[in-house]
Parts: sequence; structure tokens; C-alpha cells
Amino acid sequence: MTEPTADEQLIDRAWWKESVIYQIYPRSFNDTNDDGVGDIPGIIEKLDYLDDLGVDIIWLNPVYESPNADNGYDIADYQSIMDEFGTMEDWEELLDGLHDRGIKLIMDLVVNHTSDEHEWFVNARDPDSEYHDYYIWKNGRTDIDGFTGHLGPEDEAPPNQWESFFGGPAWAYDEEVGKWYLHLFDEKQPDLNWENPEVRDEIFEMMEWWLDKGIDGFRMDVINLLSKPDSVTKHDPPQNSTQVWETFDGPRMQEFLDTMHDRVLADQDVFALGEMMGRMDMETAIDYVGRDGPLSTLFHFDHVLLDHGGKIWETNEWTLNDLRDSFNRWQYGLADDGWNSIYLSNHDQPRLVSRFGNDDEYREESAKLLATLIFTLRGTPYIFQGAEIGMTNYPFDSLDEFRDVETINPVRNALESGEIDNFDDIKHGLRHNSRDNARTPMQWDDSEHAGFTDGEPWIGVNPNHDEINVEAARDDEDSIWHYYRELMELRKDSDVSDVMVYGDYEVLINDHEEVWSYVRTLGDERLLVTLNFAEWESHTWIPEYEVDFNPHDMEAELLLCNYGADERATDVDAEAFDLRPWEARIYRLK
Ligand code: NOJ
Repeated sequence: MTEPTADEQLIDRAWWKESVIYQIYPRSFNDTNDDGVGDIPGIIEKLDYLDDLGVDIIWLNPVYESPNADNGYDIADYQSIMDEFGTMEDWEELLDGLHDRGIKLIMDLVVNHTSDEHEWFVNARDPDSEYHDYYIWKNGRTDIDGFTGHLGPEDEAPPNQWESFFGGPAWAYDEEVGKWYLHLFDEKQPDLNWENPEVRDEIFEMMEWWLDKGIDGFRMDVINLLSKPDSVTKHDPPQNSTQVWETFDGPRMQEFLDTMHDRVLADQDVFALGEMMGRMDMETAIDYVGRDGPLSTLFHFDHVLLDHGGKIWETNEWTLNDLRDSFNRWQYGLADDGWNSIYLSNHDQPRLVSRFGNDDEYREESAKLLATLIFTLRGTPYIFQGAEIGMTNYPFDSLDEFRDVETINPVRNALESGEIDNFDDIKHGLRHNSRDNARTPMQWDDSEHAGFTDGEPWIGVNPNHDEINVEAARDDEDSIWHYYRELMELRKDSDVSDVMVYGDYEVLINDHEEVWSYVRTLGDERLLVTLNFAEWESHTWIPEYEVDFNPHDMEAELLLCNYGADERATDVDAEAFDLRPWEARIYRLK
């Protein structure tokens, strides 16, 4: 065996750092039994597609038995497959099919809450049952000052004033028990009581059961909400002083995850990805995902909150500076310890090209630019189904077209209370923000339902599927799909793979209003990535004083450009150059 080179020694390798993750939202991926709902056999049918695209890990949104109040994030049985999606045998065939192609599978772990139809909760309604204490039951407040709802007994208000993330109080009154239970999400998603050691044991055993079946890791849903603040766990009725965001990173959070790590994850080479709510400081993040932390990496929300207002229909203007700042914070924050996840879309977010790009005149260019960003920042890249063909937001026109609780509940409440007069007043904002934008069916071809189903799709298919679809994209050499393939190859199988995955990140001209440029460095290898976030030509340069090499002597070899390798892109003078609208380039600097 040869001695590792100095550069090799610098690299803290892991398979999940070198991987590209593809997220499948099964309900909307591919339907094989014509019920209008995607299913597991539908994913199996597309295994070669995933292999051709070249992804390494599939993250599957929840496929467990569920009444679907929140599309599977309300689980009624952790160890079974939802009928609509198929059977456990189908799931096993899927796992084998992926593994045969060298693709790994991570499953969604939703353990902050269950469905109210989970047998634990059904039994928990009996105060004498061992399951009662699996959930968080509290007495209501009698100091009902200002509470105008009539959700429980006349003389009671919910135990505290927390609002659920889906609107309305975070507590529901249960007639049978005569108490209120906590639900940070929908009423049909009661929060588990992680203070109870039996709950922890059950969950850890369930995780082991899935790992024994051969999965490669977990994406952990809202995992930093598990530990509730003392005001809820230690007081009855809870003190009134806390805010719901105090449920983020609660007092025993680190302990719970450390135990999970020691008991379940430590002995196996699994990938553990935690979804983390709230604006997290770097110290906390490193505690979770640093070298000694329990998890591999995390999802934060900083950049996807930039354009959201307080309400689901409220939007905010964002600038390139805001976007770059939020990524800089994490690129530098986890530079020495910890590992980032780089995503611009998922099943909870609108389509990336409609949001951060231009889904009209520059759809192709901007979708490719955003892909370049995802693949060249330091961290593991995520592709949400459909991003690889530049799918866009849906032109929603009425409330009936939406399916998502997070969209529908608050709008209904606001219409009822008179906070808003009519749907049209908020249509623009909902079109921009709603999670349903991500959930419209995958566009495979230009046939009636885009090749997704021969039945009636559970949610509308985007009318632009006659143009934007997988078949058309694969036929066109210059398409977004083929550009993703090229990025994949560069990142995984080229001379610059190591620097692309492991290289340090250094931003250039941090206040440039249109262009985001950065250098990635590993030993002697250096990449320059330069991205024009404008609809017009923008001027840029490499400032000598910001880099530790001399840009004048430098030779820049073009590796990839979304306008192709034409003379403008190949023959560049680093001291000053112009980028075309939404142009993205990757250079190797020598
Ligand atoms: C985050 C999931 O991604 C989202 O879809 C879900 O609604 C909430 N967690 C609650 O489980």
C-alpha cells in the first residue's frame, strides 16, 4: 500500500460526503395501478432512470401506513407500508433494485409525532394505559384572558399560547381524557413524549429493525423538536411565558441524539441527516454534526426562509447578498468541523427555478446555474425529483386545487375570521410559497397526465408538461438533464472530484450584486465557480487581494459552462470578464 499523500491526509472521507442524493416524493413520482397516486412499483419501474441520471442515494419520503393528514408525515404504523403505495414485498424489491445498481436508500424517520390513529395514541386515551404517557397531556388554563376559541370546555383555554406550525393552537382537547394534548403540527399529529424512556426505547428498536432490513440511513424529520422546554415537561399547566420556537433544540436534545447514536447508529456506517428547525448558531450545529456529534449532516432553513413572510401567503423580497450571506454562514461555519447539506428545493419548498431563478425566458440557463451552485458548494448535494428537468411552480387558480394542510388550514382560518376577504387577494403569495408546487406529479412525457398516471392524478399536473418533461429533456443534448449528468460526472468521476467535494470554500467580491464567485481549494487544486444571478450581462473579476495566488498568471481551464464551451467562456482573462444572463462557469485554475 502506498503512503497517503499530504492532501489525502487532509481529507476526512465519507461515502455520504461524496454522494449525490435524489429525493423521491412517492405520491407524485410514478403511478402503476391507475389510482392517481404514485406507488413503490412505480419507483421500481424507474430504477434505470435513476441509474442513468447517476445518483448515489435515494431519500424516500414516508411510505408507512398513514391516514395522510400530512401526506405520510402522520404515521399510524412505523413498520408497515401504506396500502396506496404497495406492500412490504414491493419495498424489499425496491431496496434490492437500488442496491443492485449501487444506489443506497435512506428512509424518513418521523418521530417527533405519530398519527392520532397510531395504536399508541388510540391506547393513550386511557389514562391507565401504559401508552398514556407516550404523549404530552396537560390541563387547560382557567385564566382564559383573551382566548376566544371554543376548542375545549367553555371555561378552559389551551395549556399555553403556542401556535401550531400549521395554524391554530398547538393543543387539542380530548373529550375522553378531559385533557389537552400537544401537536406542534396538525391536530392529527400528536407529539410524542420523549421524556418517557419507553418511547425512546420503542423508537430506537424500530430504527434498528429498519437498519436490519438493510437501509443505509435516515432523514430525520424536525429532529431538533424532540426535547420540549421545561415549561411543558415540568409544569402543569405549563407556564405561559414560552414561545413555540423555544421548542427548538430543547434542554435534552443533545442527550437524546447522543443516546440514539450510541444505541443505534454508532456501530454501523449509516448516514444520519437531521432536519433542524429555527435559526441555529454554529456551536449547536457542530454539537450535532461535528466530528464528535451524533449526526452526519443537517438541513437548516436559513436560505428558504428569505422570501417567506410570516403567513403562508406573505412573501419577502430577497437579494443575492441575502442568499450568499446565508450560505456563507454555513460554508464557513462548518468549514473545519461538520458537514453541510446543499439543497434549494424539496417537498416542502416551491420549485427552485421559479424561486431563485427565472422560470420564463431563462428557465434553462437559470436551472443550470442553480444546479451548478448545488454541486459546487461544499457539502452533499440534493436533487428533488423534477429539478433535473427544470420543473416549475404550478399556476394555482383556486383554493380547491391545493391539497396541503399547511396551505389550506391557515387560509381557511383566515377566510373564516375575516383576516382575508377572498382567495384572489392572496393567490399570488400562495402560488409563490405553497408546498404543493413541489408535489405536482413528475413530468415524464407530453401525454395527458405527463406519463405519471392513466388515472385521475391526486393533484394537478403542470400544464407545461407538454414542453417540460423527461423524454424531451433526454432527447436534447443541451438540456438541463444532461447538464446535471455532466455535473455528476465532474463531482464523482474526474480529476477535480476531490476538490469539488472536499475543497475549502472562499467567497470572492462578497458584495457583488449580481455575481456570486468562489474558489474551492484542496492542496494545489483550485476551482473557480462564477455565477451571474441577473437577467443581463454582468461584469466581474478575481480581486488579487482576496486570493493567495496571482490571477494575472493564472491559466483558467473551462470545465463546464451553461452556455457551452464557446470562445467567450474558454478564452477568459481573470482580471476582468463579463457573464451572460444567468451564466454559470466552472474553471480549473492552474
Ligand atoms: C417536515 C416535513 O418535511 C414536512 O413535510 C412535514 O409536514 C413536517 N415536518 C411535519 O412532519
